[in-house]
Amino acid sequence: MARSFPAKPVSFVRGLAHELFTADGTSYTDLGGASHGVANFGHSHPRIVAAIQEQAARLTYATATIPSPVRGEFLDKLHRILPSHIGRTFLCNSGTEAIEGALKHAATRTGRTKFVAMRGAFHGRTLGALGGTFRPQYRKPFEALVPDFTFTPLNDTAALEAAVTNEVAAVLVEPVQGEGGLAVATDQFLRDAERIAHAHGALLIVDEVQTGLGRTGRDLAIHGTGAKPDIIALGKSLAGGLPVGATCMTDEVAAAMPPGGHGTTFGGSPLVCAAGSAALDVLREERLSERALQSGDHLRTALLALGSPLVREVRGRGLMVGVDLRIKSQPVLDALLSQRLLALGAGPTVVRFLPPLAIPRANLDAAVATLGTILQSQALAASAEVAA
Ligand SMILES: Cc1ncc(COP(=O)(O)O)c(C=O)c1O
Repeated sequence: MARSFPAKPVSFVRGLAHELFTADGTSYTDLGGASHGVANFGHSHPRIVAAIQEQAARLTYATATIPSPVRGEFLDKLHRILPSHIGRTFLCNSGTEAIEGALKHAATRTGRTKFVAMRGAFHGRTLGALGGTFRPQYRKPFEALVPDFTFTPLNDTAALEAAVTNEVAAVLVEPVQGEGGLAVATDQFLRDAERIAHAHGALLIVDEVQTGLGRTGRDLAIHGTGAKPDIIALGKSLAGGLPVGATCMTDEVAAAMPPGGHGTTFGGSPLVCAAGSAALDVLREERLSERALQSGDHLRTALLALGSPLVREVRGRGLMVGVDLRIKSQPVLDALLSQRLLALGAGPTVVRFLPPLAIPRANLDAAVATLGTILQSQALAASAEVAA
């Protein structure tokens, strides 16, 4: 691999549910550090594995220009969890592609090319999606290549009102910012974003690449907020671990795209759709959204109960949880890894947990206890670094 990101000092040959195994059989717990939000349904879920095996032997690939029963079944199941005003889906291969599709559809629907996103946002790394990704480290070298984005603070309705003009194609929001440190968009702000966008003839795009599929304790984080986005982007766990993205939109938005205006070679392949169909069955039958809600509450309560002076805040929704530290998170992530716990960073000071949604409470409790011990041991050494 080209090393545009650092490699972890561990390698796995097998996974099952929330566990990963090295070649010598040593087991690690995946709290998100190995799966980056892809393993909502756990690693190698037997039901999803069986669906992949069966479909691979039957028909792995045919272009999405050819109708396919397995794709139809997957889309039917997907649209059962999407809001009913979302009538069409374009299937692609990743979250960033789902955002590219969202930007292109917003541009064709509105005839505009300016966008507004949130400070702290992460929408991907291809050149369109990168435009909506906030962190200068990601965007700076490519600034001249990305579309015209303005950033406003999350949950700041007045700033959004000021930024959205009649030249804006769409407002982009993550219901919970993943990379941005687990900041949660309020229901009111999501409704305000819809109102402000529509008042100016712009669209609301909600990026559920990380928050979707049960992660926040709902099938989609947008459910129950009262906001009606024009476009919803999905990815990550949607196909149970195979590469996938989905740009889901209203019929009106879909109708504005001219023939040939957007396309894909691999998107919507029978193999990925079979995996996605099984994944959506698992989501429903194992009541994973409900379990994520309960386990997430349990995890946040346990993290707060640590009472560590190094913990500034515990944030998130469902099993999308961030611990904002008063010290840098990387040494804590390294210490967790040495205890065979794979968590994730989110900005310089946040330890992020995105475990499989069915992870047993005992594993969450053990992880919190280990984190508590690590924070205690780092408290003294780090005291010089403690921020105000
Ligand atoms: C909210 C959000 N949007 C988009 C993306 C990009 O997805 P991908 O890495 O599959 O391109 C990510 C990836 O982390 C994400 O968290």
